[in-house]
Amino acid sequence: MPAARILVVYFSRSGVTARLASMLAGALHADLEAIRESGADRDPARSGVRGYLRSVVEAVRQRPAAIEPSTHDPAAYDVVIVGSPVWARSVSSPVRAWLVAHRASLKHVAFFCSLGGSGAANVFDQMRMITGKPPIAQCEVTASDLHAGKDQRLIAEFAQRIGQRLTVLNTVEWTL
Ligand SMILES: Cc1cc2nc3c(=O)[nH]c(=O)nc-3n(C[C@H](O)[C@H](O)[C@H](O)COP(=O)(O)O)c2cc1C
Repeated sequence: MPAARILVVYFSRSGVTARLASMLAGALHADLEAIRESGADRDPARSGVRGYLRSVVEAVRQRPAAIEPSTHDPAAYDVVIVGSPVWARSVSSPVRAWLVAHRASLKHVAFFCSLGGSGAANVFDQMRMITGKPPIAQCEVTASDLHAGKDQRLIAEFAQRIGQRLTVLNTVEWTL
């Protein structure tokens, strides 16, 4: 049976989600893609108090950001794992934009988010609604998990759940 092709896609304003995404991609031997903003939405537009407030407003209004085209073709992957910071208990606007642009080409999905402490369940609901797909696994990492040094274990367990689910899905698909 060939190895599953896995893509990890994420947006990160201040580096936390980026670090989790690269740990995950390393654990799963996956390709990694950072969502890049385009035009007026590009950094430093997200920096400072103005950038913070702008991000809150976009998240609350469920407005997708302007983003650059994807460098990897999501249709070429068995599973795409999408990571977002939680913004105002919502998915971040660049991740919303990426999901809207690519939802039709996603085969299987898994979701993860990084957050201060509240809103992960709402973010996972939004990601599921946008893609129209139930995730094969999901994982949240809070600021207190980071401070307690639990992030590596949480990501390793998440990677393991994805691996197990892919084995089951592959078996089902090969027997049909
Ligand atoms: C605009 C904005 C809104 C946020 N809203 C929330 C929130 O509703 N709940 C929460 O737990 N954390 C919230 N946070 C904290 C981030 O989710 C958290 O710091 C995350 O780890 C940042 O990820 P990043 O470094 O990849 O950007 C917010 C941060 C920003 C910038």
